[in-house]
Amino acid sequence: MNPRAAALSAAAARSGAEVEPGVWLVTDPLATERLLASKAALAPRGDLRTEVTSWGSDGLATWMAVRRALRPLLSATVETVEPVEKINSGVVDAMGEAVRLVSAINVRHVLGEAAPGLSSLVDKELRSRRRRAQRATFEAIRQHVRVSGTGFPAHLREHGFDERTITLAVRTMLLSSHNVPGAALAWCFHEVSTRPDVQERARAESRFCEAVVREVLRLHPPVWQLPRQLAEPVGDYPAGATLLFSPYLNQRDPSAFAEPDEFRPQRWLSGARPASGSYFPFALGPRFCPGSQLALTELTVILSTVLQSHRLVPHRAPVPSRGVLHAPRKLRICVES
Ligand code: HEM
Repeated sequence: MNPRAAALSAAAARSGAEVEPGVWLVTDPLATERLLASKAALAPRGDLRTEVTSWGSDGLATWMAVRRALRPLLSATVETVEPVEKINSGVVDAMGEAVRLVSAINVRHVLGEAAPGLSSLVDKELRSRRRRAQRATFEAIRQHVRVSGTGFPAHLREHGFDERTITLAVRTMLLSSHNVPGAALAWCFHEVSTRPDVQERARAESRFCEAVVREVLRLHPPVWQLPRQLAEPVGDYPAGATLLFSPYLNQRDPSAFAEPDEFRPQRWLSGARPASGSYFPFALGPRFCPGSQLALTELTVILSTVLQSHRLVPHRAPVPSRGVLHAPRKLRICVES
């Protein structure tokens, strides 16, 4: 378990506990739902941008307009999502392999065409977080946007957005659809490789593959904590307070899930869905993940496709994740043809 999640887990016994000066942890499902949906909680903490990636003074409103404009392009069905890359055989780094598979689909979805060069720039930026890397991604996307007649750039141009806004929007989409869904897929590889019975059933039934994905997102939500800074007071919380929500903690709550620490994809087969404050791997409210539907579909399609022609066998167990991304660090799996 991530050490910070473990520390919060101890504090989670009391929803609403102040876990650091000015930071309150909210774990009660109803309060989670209500507060995350609140307009006062629109901004994640530390939503700082450098000059390269600044959306300007009216940035949040512009971004929300971009989100609305892109909504019709973000839905996906099993028929419209097709894997672009194939998994490598032999012993592989699960995270590296998963990111490669998932980001190829997302780059093509966002741009309407493949652009492997952009994918590796995004990768570099996420690894280094340096301004130089940010500038390189921004410039490469701007060049692409300038000449592109497909995908999100063309759609946003039709909606009247300017070149800088389109570049920023495409960059946001590409950065968000790289490591996060990659971590989810890597956890899927881990869970099926260590459970031959689950793997067998997922190979036979695509409906079961989807249940595996939902269960992975329950036990291993890649975005395990969601900070929100209040723009105005809400209930007892003052303006400026940071509320911390955690899909990781709520999704392991025994009052919402029987045997919460067990990996049981079957729990998703009845069609019954938990309350949204108990299961929110894609967040909730106005800033929920706009790629959630695409993500669920592509993860199911990739997992199902990989299992049609390969067997996944454990090789090296993951070590606990650190930082904001809950990913299976150092996980190696053996991919057999
Ligand atoms: C399993 C896969 C994914 C998971 C678990 C996930 C989860 C999340 C979560 C929890 C947030 C909210 C973060 C916060 O507010 O602090 C978020 C935001 C976002 N996600 Fe995803 N995401 C996934 C895949 C994707 C994909 C495939 C795309 C795009 C194609 C995408 C695009 C975005 C964007 C643009 C945001 C920022 C929304 C905003 O700030 O208004 N995500 N995601």
